[in-house]
Amino acid sequence: MEPTGGEAEFAMSKKRIMIVYGTRPEAIKVAPVIATLENHPALDPLPVVTGQHREMLDQVNTVFGISPVSDLDVLKQEQTLNGLAARLFAELEPVYRDLTPDAVVVQGDTTTVLAAALAAFYERIPVVHIEAGLRSHNLMSPFPEEANRKLVSQVTSLHLAPTMTSKDNLLNEGVDPEKVVVTGNTVIDALFHTVRQDVEWTDSALADAIAEGRRILVVTTHRRENWGGAMEGVGRALRTLAQRYPNDVIVLPAHRNPIVRQAILPALSGLENVITLEPLAYPEFTKLLEAAHIVLTDSGGVQEEAPSLGKPVLVMRENTERPEGVVAGTVKLIGTDEDRIVSEVSVLKEEEDAYFAMARAANPYGDGRAAERSVAAIAHMFGLGPQMPDFVPGSPGS
Ligand code: UD1
Ligand code: UDP
Repeated sequence: MEPTGGEAEFAMSKKRIMIVYGTRPEAIKVAPVIATLENHPALDPLPVVTGQHREMLDQVNTVFGISPVSDLDVLKQEQTLNGLAARLFAELEPVYRDLTPDAVVVQGDTTTVLAAALAAFYERIPVVHIEAGLRSHNLMSPFPEEANRKLVSQVTSLHLAPTMTSKDNLLNEGVDPEKVVVTGNTVIDALFHTVRQDVEWTDSALADAIAEGRRILVVTTHRRENWGGAMEGVGRALRTLAQRYPNDVIVLPAHRNPIVRQAILPALSGLENVITLEPLAYPEFTKLLEAAHIVLTDSGGVQEEAPSLGKPVLVMRENTERPEGVVAGTVKLIGTDEDRIVSEVSVLKEEEDAYFAMARAANPYGDGRAAERSVAAIAHMFGLGPQMPDFVPGSPGS
């Protein structure tokens, strides 16, 4: 039905909220926000993808039924940070000028996020930053994400911090408390929404392993600072573990980056109990996490999701900007030393007390209402409604 005159006028006056995102984790984490914006009477979402990722990004948009209004298609194989940033800046300006958003929303700390935020600032468009305030306090690790998120904070008008720790980081850097809202992490909204769906396993070896009740070690790795020698060591550690525990299975959905694949996959060939896969669609991956015995990862998002599902997470990094899981006892930082990876996984496999001390459900990152709080905060920024109370873990009324 055509809108009536009044409806059309109201639609015209809705605030245009452009969400710019480019990689898999950003797509997963903005999806609940886009869905919530769609239902808001005074806000209109304009999803724009940069295409920093391609297959891994499109996979998420398909799952969540999101059709971007613009796609900058910037991906190049083995792209460099400067090459990628240059393409992003060149492509973003005309999109901002054509679509005239009232605010630009970015999520996280990728190169897409930094470029989209800075380009919006240059166009004098207010920036809203989801997952604001994460800090490892080491500019070189994670690289370049720690720098990206700190730089984005400098040009942000509304900081949506997932936890109180991230809010405190921002306040310690002098950010105005009036501009910070603690929302919880939207990844928990996406997870809660998705994990309850039934899935068909697309890989028959994985389907068999799950049907046989074999214990599964889920592994994901992609961090830039682990490329090369460290990642090759991860591959060798996995080979040792596969041989040491032949009844268990290692499942590795491999990141599309050829640099990652070249480092890790050669050590894993010819092992019956190692299943390497293409990136899994989000519903299948969340089911895999649910079926996992142990999770070994250097991913940010997986560190946030696995505690919710009560899975012990060993993080192949020296530090983390997500200390809440470590404090909750479900996440342990183990670095990338080959022998240490083998020994830490072995402890969890062999010592029941150590395993059950970590295998406890904890939700320090969210309660499934982060998108609602985020959208309320955006509306409030425009004088279009009240804010919601900050997210407090474990508080049902928060
Ligand atoms: C990027 C982000 C990182 C985030 C990660 C999530 C930066 C600098 N890095 O790292 O913060 O944690 O995404 O996965 O922003 N490729 C494909 N198809 C895809 C995706 C990647 O072919 O769908 C390949 C391409 O060769 C590409 C390479 O992977 O050049 C690296 O992708 P890029 O986005 O530059 O870096 P990531 O390591 O994925
Ligand atoms: N993920 C997925 N399929 C996979 C592996 C991971 O959907 O095969 C999801 C995972 O649940 C998490 C996100 O991708 O939400 C993490 O992405 P990634 O590790 O690439 O990036 P990071 O979180 O480290 O920035």
